[in-house]
Amino acid sequence: MTTRILTGITTTGTPHLGNYAGAIRPAIAASHAHNVESFYFLADYHALIKCDDPARIQRSRLEIAATWLAGGLDTERATFYRQSDIPEIPELTWLLTCVAAKGLLNRAHAYKAAVDQNETAGLDADAGVTMGLFSYPVLMAADILIFNAHKVPVGRDQVQHVEMARDIGQRFNHLFGQGRELFTMPEAVIEDDVATLPGLDGRKMSKSYDNTIPLFSSSKELKSAISRIVTDSKLPGEPKDPDSSHLFTLYQAFSSHAEQAAMRADLQAGLAWGEAKQRLFTLLDEQLAEPRERYHALMAKPKELEEILQAGALKARKVATPFLQELREAVGLRSFAVQGAELTTTKKKAKKASRVVSFRDDEGFRFRVLNSKGEDLLLSKAFADGRAAGMASKHLQTAQDDLDIRQVDQRLSVWLADECIAQSAQYSSDELCAEALAELRAALSTES
Ligand code: TRP
Repeated sequence: MTTRILTGITTTGTPHLGNYAGAIRPAIAASHAHNVESFYFLADYHALIKCDDPARIQRSRLEIAATWLAGGLDTERATFYRQSDIPEIPELTWLLTCVAAKGLLNRAHAYKAAVDQNETAGLDADAGVTMGLFSYPVLMAADILIFNAHKVPVGRDQVQHVEMARDIGQRFNHLFGQGRELFTMPEAVIEDDVATLPGLDGRKMSKSYDNTIPLFSSSKELKSAISRIVTDSKLPGEPKDPDSSHLFTLYQAFSSHAEQAAMRADLQAGLAWGEAKQRLFTLLDEQLAEPRERYHALMAKPKELEEILQAGALKARKVATPFLQELREAVGLRSFAVQGAELTTTKKKAKKASRVVSFRDDEGFRFRVLNSKGEDLLLSKAFADGRAAGMASKHLQTAQDDLDIRQVDQRLSVWLADECIAQSAQYSSDELCAEALAELRAALSTES
């Protein structure tokens, strides 16, 4: 079986050495493996969430596209495209938005961080929060699910989003798959060593720390950045500890075992930091020379880049277009012209034999489950608030086979976390009680 690997890069910045060594280079290497299909894309719709500077968005898209190609991505093998060239992605985003629980999205780290920040600042919880930011994980779920990706290489901060994609995809499968898996469940692959390429000051290399080493700028700029790498104050001739030096970590990320061993020994023997920097510079400058040249050639011919990305979009849409058509049909957006279309696969809901009715009495909030004749099947306990009652009722209607229904003394009861949350009347015989149980099971399995 071929494994589908998919990942996206938000187009808001210029790739630096850390992005290259951490994400781009390993992704390109992975795309050469056997039995692998890779989908790599520029997440430019995601970029709009964070950035309202059109010039920057445009520049970043161009630079990131050129970086991947300069780094050796083979677009015959991999499918390389811009998110915004695939209209099936925003269309699927809507289908998923309609099944994504708002409560799930409330828990997204990025949104929660924004809310926390507002609260600390004494502002309205949602101040400055756009629907784009709030729905960010749904768009990302669509990116992943539209291509039925198996593996999604991401940084640690994105793992939650991949889990949400599973969650939303699973719910969609349950509602519309009629027993079939419409969507494959994706798995996050965490590239841990990736996150640890250090910057000039030893912290993770990141634009937000302003400690990056440029990737395809001139040799001169590369040299100047390397000269700013922070080291300890050991003098030339003093032995140095390679393992506590992020200069050495950077060197390791680009060198062979033999080169690493030599550098290690020389540092321990007292190599001057200035010398070590010079060696790192030579190493990087040599390794980056060729891709740097390709990068600048590509940047000078944006029309060619455009063509490559258009071809990528065409390839991606060969998969996305028919799949989205299938999904549209699954939710009931079907042609009227197809014979019998109005009759096919009517959801079981239409024949629904039951109702769940919520109400409030002196003791609190309750619900009943009624059969098709309007007779009581179950009456819930009194809940202290409507929300708790709603959650219990929802559990009844969604737990399906996991629902804990017990039958004691010709009476049915439903249990959730060691608590009886609803009960039937007492039936006068085992037969009637069994009949009621069957009715209840049928009633709850038709609801979703
Ligand atoms: N949100 C990701 C990031 O900022 C980028 C991204 C968008 C992505 N869609 C994706 C990553 C789908 C993997 C899969 O890093």
